[in-house]
Amino acid sequence: MELLRLTGVEVRYGGFAALDGVDLEVGPRQVVGVVGTNGAGKSTLCDVVSGYVRPAAGEVCWQGRDVTGLGPRERHRLGVGRTLQGLGLLEDVTVRTNVELGASRHAREGRGLLSRVTTVDREVTARVDAVLSDLRITEHAEALPPSLPHAVRARVALARALVGLPSLLVLDEPTTGLSVEEATRFGTLLRRIAGRTSVLLVDHHLELLTSVSDELVVLDAGRVVARTTPDEVAARPELLAPYTS
Ligand SMILES: Nc1ncnc2c1ncn2[C@@H]1O[C@H](COP(=O)(O)OP(=O)(O)OP(=O)(O)O)[C@@H](O)[C@H]1O
Ligand SMILES: [Mg+2]
Repeated sequence: MELLRLTGVEVRYGGFAALDGVDLEVGPRQVVGVVGTNGAGKSTLCDVVSGYVRPAAGEVCWQGRDVTGLGPRERHRLGVGRTLQGLGLLEDVTVRTNVELGASRHAREGRGLLSRVTTVDREVTARVDAVLSDLRITEHAEALPPSLPHAVRARVALARALVGLPSLLVLDEPTTGLSVEEATRFGTLLRRIAGRTSVLLVDHHLELLTSVSDELVVLDAGRVVARTTPDEVAARPELLAPYTS
């Protein structure tokens, strides 16, 4: 059975459809890449999957169960982890605290609940340590995010999502601001992670998308206009050219 299934999802802002009849499936340990021009609805799709935006029509199913009405906290608890476009790190607390927030049941409420995570239990500390080490950012644990290079900040955002042990990781343009080499390194990291969890990956880098995705979905003006595979794209690179950088 698929992990996630979206059926006929529609999101409207006033009379404007940000998503219009979107069907999407993500299977266990499957990586689904999403491409689309600016404003195509990619972040809205991430928001629908992680529960920040409730669709006006359609259904979101998680392991066969209708979760359309569940908010971000409940989705997080079920196993949906995500990173935000622009990373969304808290800039005035340490890397460690940022990552701890991802482990907290109340993580999605962010800063207002910081006080509740001051007594982080041992299990959480161990998990945070493991993720920091896994993503090679242990040495930055006590640093404040503004002092770090962007590539490290991107890994902190990833750590914050991974520490909640998600079954599905939703990544919204994780390589924005990275150099080509850094994006390639991020891809290597993602391939390792994709061995343990499903990933919904929004990105503009064609090379990254084709190197980590099992399937690629093209969004245009809120609609899925194409579904393809990295093999097909390798044979016909022009297929995705209008949608990637
Ligand atoms: N809260 C909102 N209110 C009104 N319109 C919105 C809102 N959020 C998104 N939109 C509109 O919905 C459309 C889809 O936005 P979305 O952010 O999902 O696009 P995107 O594909 O992620 O774009 P980008 O590549 O720039 O990140 C855009 O036209 C955007 O202006
Ligand atoms: Mg976006």
